Amino acid sequence: MIKPDAVGNGHIGAILNKIAEAGFTFKALKMTRLSQTAAEAFYAVHNERPFFNDLVSFMTSGPIVAAVLEKDNAVDDFRTLIGATNPEEAAVGTIRKSFATSVGENAIHGSDSDENAAIEIAFHFPESEQF
Ligand code: RTP
Ligand code: MG
Repeated sequence: MIKPDAVGNGHIGAILNKIAEAGFTFKALKMTRLSQTAAEAFYAVHNERPFFNDLVSFMTSGPIVAAVLEKDNAVDDFRTLIGATNPEEAAVGTIRKSFATSVGENAIHGSDSDENAAIEIAFHFPESEQF
């Protein structure tokens, strides 16, 4: 997901270009907005964390871009491409270093395992929207 900060700051095109240049293939893509219920469900794993309410409020604050990406070793390679959660710690050239504003508003989400990727794909896209 490209998060609401990066969408609002006009970075959709630049981020999609970086993803394509890194060798990922797009299997699904859309702009949408998460409801409160959807954001709480998507980040349910964090619901005991102190930043949970801020995270849900941020993720519902504007549109996001959801994508399904394919590549060998996709989860690890994508997390390398996006960089550390805190943009101050993200490596030069990563998406978060280039486009994130803070640890909370950090431009992009990536799945953390193949298992969670499958859950998150189904969360955003019916089979008719996966190619
Ligand atoms: P994501 O799930 O969004 O790809 O990010 P991540 O794996 O790098 O980080 P994670 O630990 O899963 O945290 C999820 C999102 O919660 C927000 N966060 N805020 N204020 C804070 O200390 C804090 N810590 C995390 C970020 O938006 C983070 O990406
Ligand atoms: Mg995470």
